[in-house]
Amino acid sequence: MLSETDARARGLADLPPVESDSLLQLIALCNADPRPEKIDVGVGVFRDGVGRTPILQVIKDAERILLETQDTKSYLGSAGDKRFAELIRPILLGDHADDERIAGVQTPGGCGALRLGFELIATVNPNARVLVGTPTWPNHPPIIRSVGLQMIEYPYYDRDACSIRFEAMIDALNDARPGDVVLLHGCCHNPTGADLTDHQWDEVIRVISERGLLPFVDIAYQGFGRGLDEDARGLRGILSACEEVIVAQSCDKNFSVYRDRVGSLFLKTGSTEATARAMGHVFQRAREMWSMPPDHGAASVRLVLDTPELKQRWPGELAAMRDRINAVRQKIAAADPRLSYIGDQFGMFSMLPLTKEQVLGVREKHAIYMADSGRFNVVGLGDDQIDRFTAAVVEALDA
Ligand SMILES: Cc1ncc(COP(=O)(O)O)c(C=O)c1O
Repeated sequence: MLSETDARARGLADLPPVESDSLLQLIALCNADPRPEKIDVGVGVFRDGVGRTPILQVIKDAERILLETQDTKSYLGSAGDKRFAELIRPILLGDHADDERIAGVQTPGGCGALRLGFELIATVNPNARVLVGTPTWPNHPPIIRSVGLQMIEYPYYDRDACSIRFEAMIDALNDARPGDVVLLHGCCHNPTGADLTDHQWDEVIRVISERGLLPFVDIAYQGFGRGLDEDARGLRGILSACEEVIVAQSCDKNFSVYRDRVGSLFLKTGSTEATARAMGHVFQRAREMWSMPPDHGAASVRLVLDTPELKQRWPGELAAMRDRINAVRQKIAAADPRLSYIGDQFGMFSMLPLTKEQVLGVREKHAIYMADSGRFNVVGLGDDQIDRFTAAVVEALDA
């Protein structure tokens, strides 16, 4: 028999409030600020020099083809668009694309791929611990916990020194148990922008393979850092060295299709048979969660990559986004020696060594909205906002 309290606690009205996402709170605060000069660097998407997140021309063209040629919206099955996954394969895997021990499947964005990958780990090894660098993208911990896996933090970045805590990271990996999972950002680390150097990747890969750890690479910004191949170098090194690897990939940024939810999960095991068996579980978990991924965005990306003329144009549009990111970085870095590290980092995000009080001070005085941690999106800045932003940051650093 349930007690009266238990019985009452089962009503939906008894649910406690969810602690709201601080980035969503930041957006609401920024929207409510009436000051016309306000600057939103809390935003998580690419913006051009005048503050727009445009649809890529190649995607617009692919959508036109899709509109004219698609003749059914019948179900595709839990694998989604198989051709999409085939076409992403060489872009992501490079020389490993022909390795038949690697299989991939379309997912609802990078988030879907992360969840699916962790579901698979929880299925095979519910006692696995997941090592996660700090700080990390705030959605990583809840996704890991949602499948019941234990999370262990390892030091990744020193906010005050503005550099990677590499020795501490290696020590933590050396302390891990065989079978533990190591979550790594493939490139353009979110929230810090601090990517491992080639040499550091080699060292991380050596420890992971020597200790029998399972690498899980989250690569959501391929092409936003140095280039498509350069940004996948760490991942491909891992694929060369490790028998089992999981990869969560997103096209939402590099094809600028955020809301259309386009991503994929790839996995490698020691044999084609084991990979096929693991993929059986992947399809089963996908079926339980979303049955099949949404089609439109992946079909558009597929059409870009399957239409020679569009495929040829896409790297140019991607390079234009990357060039803006890197140009803004260089401009910020040149403003003050204390900001020079920003010019050596990659992707949209960096972290300022400001205290929470300083972040709030900058918000109040200059209407500049960044996360309390000091994380900001370099391309949240319009071309005409960069100088005002750096002046405000330097003023806060001087105070
Ligand atoms: C590090 C990281 N991984 C994964 C994702 C997921 O991307 P999406 O689900 O929008 O494809 C993001 C998005 O911001 C991210 O920053």
